[in-house]
Amino acid sequence: MQQLDYNRIPAHVAMIMDGNGRWAKAKGLPRTAGHVEGIARVKQITEESARLGIKYLTVYAFSTENWNRPMQEVETLMNLILTNLEEEIFIKNNVRFRVIGDMSRLSETIRKRLQDCIDHTAANTGMTMVVALSYSSRWEITNAARQIADEVKAGKLKAEDIDDECISRHLTTGLIPDPDLLIRTGGELRISNFLLWQCAYTEFYFTDEFWPDFNVESLHRAIIDYQQRQRRFGKTGEQVTNEE
Ligand code: IPE
Ligand code: IPE
Ligand code: MG
Repeated sequence: MQQLDYNRIPAHVAMIMDGNGRWAKAKGLPRTAGHVEGIARVKQITEESARLGIKYLTVYAFSTENWNRPMQEVETLMNLILTNLEEEIFIKNNVRFRVIGDMSRLSETIRKRLQDCIDHTAANTGMTMVVALSYSSRWEITNAARQIADEVKAGKLKAEDIDDECISRHLTTGLIPDPDLLIRTGGELRISNFLLWQCAYTEFYFTDEFWPDFNVESLHRAIIDYQQRQRRFGKTGEQVTNEE
């Protein structure tokens, strides 16, 4: 078994936390029980990520498409998010909290709670935790295209100045560097509308473990796997070795 190299921790880890429902079903429990256990894992993984020195942790908590789930499940999820947004864990771990997604679809109560959490942790200097809530990449890219079009129309931006960096800046992730590692639990081999633009050169790690079973050791395994890879960004392996 390879050891974790603390000098080569990925700066940005993104997570698709999938499999809560199936975890519960396998135990003969209601889906809600899976979501409750899933939230406990989020807290644990947040603490461990901060301890490892990860700079950004982005977690997919609720997608645009998840609004199409049965109303009762949506309500349960929103309530769980609301009641579990504890600032203490962020304060204790020097974590700055952020949210990306379509806030206009969230209730006033949740929006207020999220904003409080953002404000109260804004001065923290450790890891930034980004929660993707009511988020989808196509929603985000569409929005960015609209904003850019508006700026061109208003004469604030020239069409010929639209480049890679300009598009990145208009996404909800703004100046956050692209993820180095994307982990998806739950066994599905897809990205379900998450960070499509940002994951252009991200390393993917898929595990069959359901999210409620994903623990500190699972996170270490994913990072060790990541550390065995050579990221080439289009270059040859020899070029990359010579640059190191
Ligand atoms: C992930 O678990 C949580 C959310 C999408 C909100 P699921 O609820 O998708 O669980 P499965 O995939 O049905 O097992
Ligand atoms: C992706 O999981 C979204 C989140 C983890 C929040 P889903 O369960 O919604 O993904 P699909 O529907 O299986 O692709
Ligand atoms: Mg799922």
